Amino acid sequence: MSDRTGVLFVCLGNICRSPMAEGIFLHLAEARGVWGRFDVDSCGLGSWHVGERPDARALATAARHGIELPSIARKVHPRSDFDRFDLLLPMDLENRARLLEIGAPPSRVRLVRSFDPSLVGRPEGEMLVPDPYHGGDEGFERVFEMLERACAGLLDQLSIASR
Ligand code: 4NP
Repeated sequence: MSDRTGVLFVCLGNICRSPMAEGIFLHLAEARGVWGRFDVDSCGLGSWHVGERPDARALATAARHGIELPSIARKVHPRSDFDRFDLLLPMDLENRARLLEIGAPPSRVRLVRSFDPSLVGRPEGEMLVPDPYHGGDEGFERVFEMLERACAGLLDQLSIASR
C-alpha cells in the first residue's frame, strides 16, 4: 500500500473532463507544495479513445490557464484501480452508476463537484460536470472552472484530513 492518497478522476471518454481534472489537481497540488502526497490519475469508462492525448479543446483551455494535461487515455481497470485509489471521482451520475456496477467500493465513490464548497447541501443534479465533447469551446471553459473549484475544495479537505 502507498502512503500517498490515491485520487482517480473518472469520465466517459478520458479525453475531456477527467484529464482536465487530473491536470488541474496536479497543478494546484504543486502550487501548494503537496504534489508528492498524492497518487493522481484519470481514466474512462469507454474504450473509444484509449491511447489518445486529451481533446484539442481540453488542451487549449487548460493551456490558456497555464496548465498542461499529462493524460494518455485509458480505460478503468476495475480490480487494480479499486485497490490503488482511495477516491474514485466520477463527473456525473452515469459515470457513478457505471463505476458502482463494475464493483467500485461505494464508500470511495464521490461526485467530483461534491468537493466544491459552494455546492455543499445542493441537490446532486446541480453537482454534475456536463460532457463538453459535442459542444463548443465555451463548454470547455465552463467545465474547467467547475473542475478548478472542485479540485481546490478537494485539496482543502484532503489537507485537513492529513493534518
Ligand atoms: P469525456 O468526454 O467523457 O469528458 O472524455 C467524451 C469524449 C468522447 C466521447 C464521450 C465523452 N465519445 O463518445 O467518444
